[in-house]
Amino acid sequence: MSARTIQVDDQLHDWLLEHSLRDTEAHKSLRKHNTTLEDGGMQTSPEQSQFLAFLAHSSGATRAIEVGVYTGASAMAVAHALPHDGRLVACDISDEHLQTAMATWKAAGVDVRIESRIGPAVDTLTTMLDEPEAGHYDFMYVDADKENSLNYYELGLQLLRTGGIICIDNMFRGGDVTDASCNDESTVATRELARFLLDDERVDYSLVPIGDGLALMHKR
Ligand SMILES: C[S@@+](CC[C@H](N)C(=O)[O-])C[C@H]1O[C@@H](n2cnc3c(N)ncnc32)[C@H](O)[C@@H]1O
Repeated sequence: MSARTIQVDDQLHDWLLEHSLRDTEAHKSLRKHNTTLEDGGMQTSPEQSQFLAFLAHSSGATRAIEVGVYTGASAMAVAHALPHDGRLVACDISDEHLQTAMATWKAAGVDVRIESRIGPAVDTLTTMLDEPEAGHYDFMYVDADKENSLNYYELGLQLLRTGGIICIDNMFRGGDVTDASCNDESTVATRELARFLLDDERVDYSLVPIGDGLALMHKR
């Protein structure tokens, strides 16, 4: 028992990974590749990717959406958790890393479950509202431009079925949300989103201190 969430130092973090990660070769090789990229720190942490997969699988998700794909780490984990006929719509504004993502998904055997859509995700999700699957998605993970997280959430609520789950990353902004001197657009938007989610009665809500803070919403 613990009255508050404890600090995870490097030693405890190593222990966590050693005792929880069910890594595949594809995940290991992608992480190694990402260390060679200047912005490789953008990938979702392995423990968080595994948690997303756990949520998707345990909630019986078959149709999923990801906003913010990068080289495809979290998309690969979630797609792996879907059934064989499941589908993940993977949205990113850039195709710069798409070749890496697709090769990795192929190596993991999940490429057939993933459909990439390139363009500003607000436009992509808005287009998806006119498709037959609108209102039938089960799971959504948001990890892109933080200024738009609230827009992605509102569009996601329309795309998801009742009982669907939305996860939004980087709610802590590396701790900047508590620093009054940090007023960049992303941090201000994240503070506003946090205030909004707390009072949003359309969802059950939890903010989990994994990675950089993961907001979990369950559509009522
Ligand atoms: C933090 S990375 C995503 C990391 C990914 N979830 C992973 O596990 O590797 C953020 C991604 O969001 C994308 N992005 C930024 N603005 C976007 C927008 N307006 N629409 C769609 N994607 C966007 C970026 O191109 C980048 O690939």
